[in-house]
Amino acid sequence: MQLDEDRIVKGFESRTPKSAEMFQKALKVTPGGVMAGIKFFEPYPVFMKRASGSRIWDVDDNDYVDYLMSYGALILGHGDSSVKKSIASVLESFGTTVTGTPTEVEVDYGAVLRDLYHKDGLIRFTNSGLEATLLAVRLAKGHTGRRKVAKFEGHYHGAVDRLLFSYAPAVGGAGTAESPVPIGDSMDVDLGIISDSVVLPFNDWKSTEQILTRNAKELACLILEPFEEGVIAGDAEFMRNLRKITRDLRIPLIYDEVKTGFRVRPGGASEFYSITPDLTCLGKIIGGGLPIGAVVGDADIMNQLDPRGKSGTRIFHSGTFNGNPLSLSVGKATVEEIMRRGRFDGLRSRTENLKRRLSAKLTEYQVPHVLAGEGAMFNFYMTDKPVKNYRDAKRSDLRLRRFLDIELISRGVYLKPENRYCTSLAHSDADLSLTETRFAESLDSLMPNVRR
Ligand SMILES: Cc1ncc(COP(=O)(O)O)c(C=O)c1O
Repeated sequence: MQLDEDRIVKGFESRTPKSAEMFQKALKVTPGGVMAGIKFFEPYPVFMKRASGSRIWDVDDNDYVDYLMSYGALILGHGDSSVKKSIASVLESFGTTVTGTPTEVEVDYGAVLRDLYHKDGLIRFTNSGLEATLLAVRLAKGHTGRRKVAKFEGHYHGAVDRLLFSYAPAVGGAGTAESPVPIGDSMDVDLGIISDSVVLPFNDWKSTEQILTRNAKELACLILEPFEEGVIAGDAEFMRNLRKITRDLRIPLIYDEVKTGFRVRPGGASEFYSITPDLTCLGKIIGGGLPIGAVVGDADIMNQLDPRGKSGTRIFHSGTFNGNPLSLSVGKATVEEIMRRGRFDGLRSRTENLKRRLSAKLTEYQVPHVLAGEGAMFNFYMTDKPVKNYRDAKRSDLRLRRFLDIELISRGVYLKPENRYCTSLAHSDADLSLTETRFAESLDSLMPNVRR
């Protein structure tokens, strides 16, 4: 498709001159001008200065309906009153931000998450999603005495060398679709990690079964995003088969629910599929906007963390800020809000409504697309073929998608280009209507005269 890329980028630049200026300053302070690789996009990221509810404002005073929601971490929207109250109450009643000792809130909140995700299990808090996935892999290694880690192509588990393989490989060099090979996504992923890594094709049961069976004796775990990129569902039978084979082969099954926890359903993808893995990693929403992660799961596996265990049976895990009362109190308040009767279901049906309306606009502009996602998160892939895994998603029209997202930013709808849509309790019907209008205007700008 013919796209006037220069005009689209110029439109963005003319609206965001202060972001451009700040980006130049940032380049002198931090590599690439960003504190996390994922925050960068071309021509430069938008610098934000304030947010409230569903809205976010940039340094040029442009106002956006925000669907990034800090990569899905905020399900109540920005600055919800329950979050503000709980921060104030920790400071007032507790008197400090952190004590370095056990506290009541970690037991209370830990029990809430444990009961939702692993009724008979145990939980450990960390400070980020990546610390949770890394801890889960360490637990599985200790439990099985094996070394290899299996994951699916295209699944992300955090910025850590052990799990940074085959997240975003160039398809040409990554083996066949049925038998992908592990590819490091980062220069520090060494040959040792690669040779202890196994990569699988999502939603392809025959190949997955063969590869798992072949490597079974060496596999410490299978970790997956139970919805790829948070949105592409596993087929019901595929997910059931995975649960069964990992049980039969005694390979701990780890659901990485950092994106999907409290977004796909309150009980995450586990609740959606009615499947309980051996370990679950949580993050994002469970901290209500403050740094957090958690591993929750099978007591036998988790008990390796018991500091009273005999030497030789223990896994050492620690962190100065683990279970800090601020993240936990805010997380607990957030989870209580979303669990209030009817709130999640209301959010889910508003999200479905937005999804349908955007899809109708794409159809009007003759853009073939596949919708994906459940609960309060969705995405669309611009293709006329089914999207079941990484390679299918890669075949979609990513260039059109990127420029549509830049146009949306220029019209006041914010999501990181090519990222998924995350909704919140703060998104009103008026926000959804405004989004629909701006979406249509963006399509019209990209493809004048195409509308049916
Ligand atoms: C599925 C998944 N796992 C792990 C992580 C890492 O979490 P964090 O960014 O908190 O380290 C992310 C982050 O986006 C994620 O989406």
